[in-house]
Amino acid sequence: MDSLIVRGGHRLDGTLRASGSKNAALPIMAATLLAQGACHLERIPVLRDIATMLTLLSSLGATVSRAADGAVRIECDQACEVTAPYDLVKTMRASILVLGPLLARHGKAAVSFPGGCAIGSRPVDLHIQALEAMGAAISVEGGYILAEAPHGLVGTDFTFDITTVGGTENAVMAASLANGTTVLRNVAREPEIIDLVQFLRSMGADIAGEGTEMLTIRGVPCLTGGTYSVMPDRIEVGTYLVAAAATGGRVRMTDIDPSVLGVITDKLRSAGASVREGEQWVECEMDGKRPQAVDVTTEPFPGFPTDMQAQFTALNAIAQGEARVTETVFENRLMQAHEMRRMGAHIVIEGNTAIISGQPSLQGAPVMASDLRASASLVIAGLVASGETRIDRIYHIDRGYENIEGNLQSLGADIQRVSG
Ligand code: EPZ
Repeated sequence: MDSLIVRGGHRLDGTLRASGSKNAALPIMAATLLAQGACHLERIPVLRDIATMLTLLSSLGATVSRAADGAVRIECDQACEVTAPYDLVKTMRASILVLGPLLARHGKAAVSFPGGCAIGSRPVDLHIQALEAMGAAISVEGGYILAEAPHGLVGTDFTFDITTVGGTENAVMAASLANGTTVLRNVAREPEIIDLVQFLRSMGADIAGEGTEMLTIRGVPCLTGGTYSVMPDRIEVGTYLVAAAATGGRVRMTDIDPSVLGVITDKLRSAGASVREGEQWVECEMDGKRPQAVDVTTEPFPGFPTDMQAQFTALNAIAQGEARVTETVFENRLMQAHEMRRMGAHIVIEGNTAIISGQPSLQGAPVMASDLRASASLVIAGLVASGETRIDRIYHIDRGYENIEGNLQSLGADIQRVSG
C-alpha cells in the first residue's frame, strides 16, 4: 500500500485548476442508466471511486470508455443486468445510487446492502422508504436489497425524516421515469443535487425546485443521452484553500464559481485569511500570518459542510486560540484528532465536539489515514509540521483527490508518494 511522505515548513504558493466534483459525478454516472442513447460526461475526475462506478456500470452491461481528454462515454442501452454485487458495493457505498435508476428503468434491482464505514453506520433506510412510497416492493435478503416495481413506479408525495444527499439523489432519479408527479420534501440542497437535476433535465426530465427543500418531478416516458460537464469539486477546492491558510501561503483555484463554496470562504476569513473572488476563481492568502481559531459546526447545505470539518480541525490545530469543532452529520467523524495528537496537537473530544487548543507548531510523525477527508487533514497537518510525516493507507485519499502529491508539489510542498 502506498504512503505519502510530507516534510513541512513550506508556504504553499501557486494556482491550480479545480477538478470535476466526485460527489456530482457519481450520481450523474448512475443516472446514465436511465438514458436511451450514449451520455458524454466531461470533467469527470480520475479517482478510485470514479473507477469503481465505471466498473459497476460495466458489470451492469453498460459500455463505458474514457477519452484522452478525460471525458467519459457511457451507453446503457444494452445494460440489462440489475445486480450490484457485494464485491463492488463494499468498496464504495455510493454504489447504492444505482438502486433508483435500475428500478425506474428495469422495474427491478438487487443491490448489495452497503455496510457502514469509518465515519458512521451510513444507513439507507430513507432511500428505501422513498422508493417504497413510489410503489416499489423492497426486501433485504442475503445481504442484498431486492427491489421490484413490475408495473413501474408511481408518483407520490414523500417527506424525508432527515436530510440525505444520497436518498434525495436516488429518489429524484427514480421519480424521473415514474408514472405521474412526485413531490419530495425536506430534500438535500447541496450544489451536487442541483448538478444532478440539471443533468437529468438535459436528458429530458421534468424537475423543479432544485436547491430548495422541495422537489417536484413529473415523470416522463423516457430520457435520452447527451453531453454534460459536471460541476467543479467544492471540497477539493476548499481543501487546498485551507492548506494555503494553514501554511501561511497563497493559493488560487480556477475554473470554479466561488458561490458554491458557501460558508467555507466565510470561515477562512474568520481565520484571518484574505479571500479574493473572481467570476471563475477564488484565492486564499495568509501572508505568513498564523491563523486565528475558528469554530465550526457541520450541517446540511447551506450550513458548514461535514466534508470540510477535518480540514478545519487541522487548521485549528496550529491556530491562535481555542476552537470548537462540532460534527452533527455523522456519528464518528472526529477520528483525525487522534492521529493529530501524535503530532503534538492539543485536542479533547467531548461527545461530537473536538475542543482544539491551537499550538505554535506540530511535529512530524507516522500517522494513518482512516477515511477520505481525515486523510486530507493529515496531509495539511504534515504540511505545517516540523520534520517528516508519513501517512499510511492513502488509498483513502486517492478516492477523492486527483494527483494530490503532484498538485501540492506544484504549489511548493515537499511531498512524495512511496510504495509498499
Ligand atoms: C454524501 O454522502 C457524500 N457522498 C458524503 O461525502 C457527504 O459527507 C454526505 O453526503 C453529507 O454531505 C457522496 O455524495 C458520494 P447523507 P451520503 O445520506 O449521501 C443519515 C466524501 O467525503 N442517513 O446525506 O451517504 C446518514 O447516516 C463523502 O466525499 C440515514 O439515516 O450522506 C448521515 O448521518 C463522505 N438514512 C446523514 O443522514 C439514510 O437512508 C447524512 O447522510 C441516509 C442517510
